[in-house]
Amino acid sequence: MICAFPGNETFAAGLRAELGIEMLDLEWRRFPDGESYLRFAQDFRHRDLALVCSLNDPDTKTLALLFAARTARELGAARIGLVAPYLGYMRQDRRFKDGEAITSVHFAALISSAFDWLVTVDPHLHRRASLGEIYAIPSATAAAAPALAQWIGENVAKPLIVGPDSESEQWAAGVAAACGAPHVVMSKTRLGDRRVEIQSPSLAQWKDRTPVLIDDIISSARTMALAARRIAEQGLEAPVCVGVHATFSPDALDALRQAGVARVVTTNTVTHETNAINLSALVARSIESIRAREAV
Ligand code: R5P
Repeated sequence: MICAFPGNETFAAGLRAELGIEMLDLEWRRFPDGESYLRFAQDFRHRDLALVCSLNDPDTKTLALLFAARTARELGAARIGLVAPYLGYMRQDRRFKDGEAITSVHFAALISSAFDWLVTVDPHLHRRASLGEIYAIPSATAAAAPALAQWIGENVAKPLIVGPDSESEQWAAGVAAACGAPHVVMSKTRLGDRRVEIQSPSLAQWKDRTPVLIDDIISSARTMALAARRIAEQGLEAPVCVGVHATFSPDALDALRQAGVARVVTTNTVTHETNAINLSALVARSIESIRAREAV
């Protein structure tokens, strides 16, 4: 059975259509003091459950999600999986300054304590090779690159794929290979949550192409906005921005508009007005693969 956390109904419905499985309703409301009330509406004893909850803005959802998983286990669910199309808390993956919390590790421990398996899309793996380094439960990760490449192939005539920083190379290179386009990667130094510096290689030989900026996460959008300015400085046409996870802060879209980008497109791992690439079929295949692998 599949159970959508509030806000994930559309993605969960896409999964249900792909997998042909039953939906389980979950009531989640807040008491006046802000605590959560949770209730599963149907019986699911001895059944396998997949809870669908994209983990953008994770501090508002995680406690309720853990309560739901623990309740499902108490009420007799067989195995309980988490489908988090966007997996939060992956970016603080080391102690950059003395005393900092390495939240990716603590978050992974909490999720691993409550679920039997995890499916996500393109987790932000920078200094780690796989989710298995921090998650104690089996996981499957769906790669968005082929879907991004397909969208670009259908919507941009002569693309130049541009990664705004070295971390984005894994997506930029994969997308470029899949759509038969050249790619370049810029170099970024992060100075603060909303302050970055970006250097671009020469783009002179690509002036006849449409730049397509690719990144895994668009958060404050300062990375994409500055990369777009670097492109404009070199006289190329305004870029199309393609992001996997639309974790947009409230002013992010404005920052991109002010930088003069031509279009902003994201996948539906986080619900946002820029969503144009539906990954529910891809995630459904990952759910099938992890269930086959775990023989559940
Ligand atoms: C960074 O490591 C990621 O790949 C993205 O480049 C970053 O999360 C984007 O953040 P922002 O939109 O706040 O510049």
